[in-house]
Amino acid sequence: MVFRIVAAALCTLVASAALADAPYGATIAQQGNGHGVAPCMACHGADGGGQAAAGFPRLASLPQAYLLKQLQDFTNGSRANATMQPVASGLSDAEREAVAAYYSALPIPPAPPLLTPAGADAQRGHTLATRGRWEEGLPACEQCHGPAGIGVGEHFPPLAGQSAVYLSNELRAWQQGSRHNDPLRLMQSVAGKLSDADIAAISAWYAAQPAVVAREPKS
Ligand code: HEC
Ligand code: HEC
Repeated sequence: MVFRIVAAALCTLVASAALADAPYGATIAQQGNGHGVAPCMACHGADGGGQAAAGFPRLASLPQAYLLKQLQDFTNGSRANATMQPVASGLSDAEREAVAAYYSALPIPPAPPLLTPAGADAQRGHTLATRGRWEEGLPACEQCHGPAGIGVGEHFPPLAGQSAVYLSNELRAWQQGSRHNDPLRLMQSVAGKLSDADIAAISAWYAAQPAVVAREPKS
């Protein structure tokens, strides 16, 4: 009897926590957390689409576990970034969870017309994305990030439609070691094999791929 009451109470708690998450996340995104953290939308856009030229990434529809991990990584310093570190560490655990739930459930915003790269750079980007350079032990990006960079599961983020500025910032951050939050150093090893010309080409190529939701929607 006691067990049943406790079990029922726990179920209600879990259910209400799950329900409360996303609306609380919306409040943080739109108004900040009331304890010094600015509204996310000031930089990431009202629809979570980001700001391409400024290197503010799209958050809308990114996997929930990936978003949460990034917020934790900005906090623990394994992803060093002067802008996001104070934001992420100013949130409580529950707030990080709520805002990750909110953004992962937002639809992908309509994108401005994509600029398809042309010529030799486009060819270089396409080759890196689909074939890599096996002679240097560089795997194709799509092996982990999915066809045309749509993302795979909860831990391999989409690259499609993120801005070239943001994508190249991240590849350089891995090269320089300011971002070292990748499991098994997968991305540090990849980025270390890219030249400046590779980074420019692959970033432009993925920025021109349409973003789509690759994951099954959560029930
Ligand atoms: C002052 C501008 C600014 C504000 C406010 C801001 N961000 Fe960011 N955010 C950035 C920048 C810049 C980056 C890219 C950092 C980098 O290059 O590593 C970023 C990156 C991120 C990422 C990583 C995305 C990815 O694809 O890996 C997440 C997650 C994120 N922000 C969540 C948030 C949340 C949640 C809030 C609100 C609580 C917020 N941000 C508020 C500027 C901002
Ligand atoms: C062996 C698997 C693997 C391969 C191959 C790979 N990646 Fe990644 N990539 C990852 C993982 C895992 C992450 C997420 C790391 C984390 O948790 O922050 C990531 C993240 C990224 C990000 C950051 C996205 C964001 O939203 O911040 C960029 C940019 C990126 N990869 C570009 C590339 C490019 C370009 C290539 C090909 C040249 C490539 N990756 C090949 C595993 C891989």
